[in-house]
Amino acid sequence: MKFSTKLWVLVSVVLTLAAVAIKWYFLPMTEKYAELTIQNQMKGEMQSFEKILGLIAYTADQDKAFVKRAWGLIAEDKSIPYEFRRSDFLHAQYGFKKDRAVQNDFEKKVMASGNAEFQSDKNFITYAYPLKAQKVCQGCHFDKTGKVIELGKPLGLVVHKVPVTAITESPAAYFSLNLFWENFGLVMLCIALAILPVWLWILKPIRRVAAQSEEILRRADERGESDTIGDFDDNRPKKVVDELDAIRRLVDYAKRR
Ligand code: HEC
Repeated sequence: MKFSTKLWVLVSVVLTLAAVAIKWYFLPMTEKYAELTIQNQMKGEMQSFEKILGLIAYTADQDKAFVKRAWGLIAEDKSIPYEFRRSDFLHAQYGFKKDRAVQNDFEKKVMASGNAEFQSDKNFITYAYPLKAQKVCQGCHFDKTGKVIELGKPLGLVVHKVPVTAITESPAAYFSLNLFWENFGLVMLCIALAILPVWLWILKPIRRVAAQSEEILRRADERGESDTIGDFDDNRPKKVVDELDAIRRLVDYAKRR
């Protein structure tokens, strides 16, 4: 195989590998990174929200109607992206409310474990966060027997949903997602820059040497010096024949590059 053919095969293999790496590794990693960034943001916002809820409960100062109004207003306000879910404890205290019951296994799991969790499907990133009972909550939340909610036990959940399009729209993803061709182009440019010197300083000069050598052979041919060794001519000096053979080998070698 000619050296230049080998070079092209090598370039094609490298480009294919780069395309595979970009498509199946780099882009998914970027997407993952963008998702983690969004999750982090959601965590921070949720902490603030929980603090505000605590503040409302504290400010209410035993006024149950006040808290009920506040919770109701938060739930009604569509611009506040949080939904409440009630624990069995709350259902028992205030009567079962279907639209505030846990809606799936994921929410049920978070309510039972008390550990906040994320869930992603093809439409939403969902964050379920348990509202654990603090001291202030015990002022109003107790069961039929008057026993207050245990500290640290989830009274309910806050569920926050963000559409997955937030990933592609996030600033973190902006530069790298959907940039397949730009990334690929950059790899191609790098390879071209690496190959250019090989072509300019090695392949091109070798071809020039070959052309010049062929010219020498042609002239020798015209003078009748380069007959094959087979029909040996005694008048021809041995040295010239050797030299011409060497030149032929040189041309052969160059043509294989
Ligand atoms: C001043 C009394 C009071 C305090 C303090 C209080 N709550 Fe409540 N909470 C209520 C009332 C009243 C309701 C509404 C019950 C109903 O719907 O009839 C309620 C409802 C809830 C709900 C359900 C919200 C909804 O919209 O479905 C959650 C969750 C909750 N409380 C958690 C807490 C937590 C956590 C704390 C402590 C940080 C707390 N509450 C402190 C009185 C209180």
